Amino acid sequence: MLHKTLKPFPQDFLWGASTSAYQVEGASLTNGKGPSVQDVKTPPAGTSGFEVAADQYHHYKEDVALMAEMGFKTYRFSISWARLLPEGTGRVNDEGVQYYSDLIDECLKYDIQPLVTMYHFDLPAALDEKGGWANRATVDAFVEFSELMFKSYGDRVKYWLTINEQNMMTLAAGAILGIDTSAPGATKNIYEQNHHMLLAQAKAMNLCHEMLPEAKIGPAPNIALVYPASCKPEDVTAAANFNALRNWLYLDMAVYGIYNNIVWSWLEEQDALPENILDGDMDLMASAKPDFIAFNYYSTATVKMPDEGAEGTKGDQQRGATLAGFSQAVSNPNFQKTEFGWEIDPIGFRNTLREVYSRYHLPIIITENGLGAYDTLEEDGAVHDPYRIEYLRKHIEQMNLAISDGVEMMGYCPWSAVDLISTHEGIVKRYGFIYVNRDEFDLKDLKRYRKDSFFWYKKVIASNGTDLA
Ligand code: BG6
Repeated sequence: MLHKTLKPFPQDFLWGASTSAYQVEGASLTNGKGPSVQDVKTPPAGTSGFEVAADQYHHYKEDVALMAEMGFKTYRFSISWARLLPEGTGRVNDEGVQYYSDLIDECLKYDIQPLVTMYHFDLPAALDEKGGWANRATVDAFVEFSELMFKSYGDRVKYWLTINEQNMMTLAAGAILGIDTSAPGATKNIYEQNHHMLLAQAKAMNLCHEMLPEAKIGPAPNIALVYPASCKPEDVTAAANFNALRNWLYLDMAVYGIYNNIVWSWLEEQDALPENILDGDMDLMASAKPDFIAFNYYSTATVKMPDEGAEGTKGDQQRGATLAGFSQAVSNPNFQKTEFGWEIDPIGFRNTLREVYSRYHLPIIITENGLGAYDTLEEDGAVHDPYRIEYLRKHIEQMNLAISDGVEMMGYCPWSAVDLISTHEGIVKRYGFIYVNRDEFDLKDLKRYRKDSFFWYKKVIASNGTDLA
C-alpha cells in the first residue's frame, strides 16, 4: 500500500536499545552471583566465555550516560535470576538486588525508562540441575523471582517483559535448553518444558497486575513471518504450518490463553502432546492478559512443503530442519545476507508488524533488531559502520510504513545498546552503537567508543524518526 503522507511516530515513542545480563554484564561469578546455565556450559570453540563480557557491571554509569547522550527514552536490559537468587530460589543476594536498583536509578536520572526482561536465556544452574523447565517447581521459582523483582523495583519500573524468545528456546531446544533432541520422546519433553514456561509467564503477568496495577507487562518472543517458497498451495500450507509453530503458538497463548490448533494437531500426530497440563492450567492461561506485545525481529523464514515420503530431519527447527509432512526451510534468493549469513528483509518487518497487529490488536514494542558484523576500531577512535546504519534505516522506514498502515507502535529497541557477546559467535560479532574495546580473548581496556551509528541514531531519536539520512 502506498501512502501519500506517512503518519508520524507517536510523541511518546520509546526509542532505545537492548542488552541481556549474561551477554553484557560480566562479574558472572562474583559479587554473590550464582552460576547460570550460561556460566557452566563450554563456549563454542574460538569464542570467549561470559566471565567479563562487556563488563557493564562495572561500567553501567558510563554506559547509561552514553545512552542518554544518544537521547534514549528507554533501555531494555535483563535481570540475572542467579544474581538475585544464587540458587534460583530461597537465599537472596542483596548485592545483586542493589546492583539493579542502582542501574534503574541511573537510567531514571536521565529520564530513560527501564524496560526489564525478567528472564533471558540464563536459568540458574542450580534449577537446571533439578530438571530445569521440565520440573514444575521451576514455575514456582520463577514466580518467587518475579515477586522479588516487583517488590524491589516495581516503584520505579513501568515496563516488564516476561521471557525472552521462549519460541527460540523451544525451536532450538538442543542448543539453548540443552535437550538431546534425538532422544526418544524429545519432542514431548520439549513441549512439556514449553508448557511450564507458558505457565510461568501467565503467573508472572497476573502477579504483576496484582502487585503493580500501574505497570505494563508483555511477552518477548522472536516473531517473523514465514513465507511460502512458491505460490503452490502446498507451500502455502507449509508456511501456515511453520508460522503456527514458530510464531502464533506463543502469541495465541500469551494473548488468548489457547493452544494453537495447527500446532496441537502436529503434536498429537507425533504422539507428543504435553501431558503435564493440569486442571486449572488453561483457566490460568486464559486469565493472564498482556498489556502489549514485544518482539524481536531479525529476518523472515521461507519454507516449502517437504516432498511426499521425505523423512523428518532432527536439529534446529528454525533453520534447516525438515518436519515431515509439515514444512521444510529453504533459503530465499531475494535477500542479501549479513557477514554472518543472516538474511536481511526489512519489508518482512513491515509485513510482520501488520500481521501481528491484525491478529492481536495490542500495541507493539520491538525489543531486538540489528546487524551483527566485524567492526574495526580506527586509530583515531572512530568506528565506521555504514552497513549497520543502512540496516537500521531500512527497518525504521518500514516501521514508519507499518505505523501508516495503522499499526500501533510503542517503541523500538535495536540489538544492541553496547557491544556484547553473541549467543554463540563471540564478541567479534558486534551489534552495538557503542564499541567496547576488547577482543575475543584479549580484554584490553574495555574502553567505550562511539560508532558512526551512535551519532546517526542520536539524530534519528532527536527528530523522532524523521531524519534517517
Ligand atoms: C536474539 C537473542 O535471538 O538474538 C539475543 O535474544 C542474541 O540474546 C541476538 O544475542 C543475536 O543473536 P546472536 O546469535 O548473533 O547473538
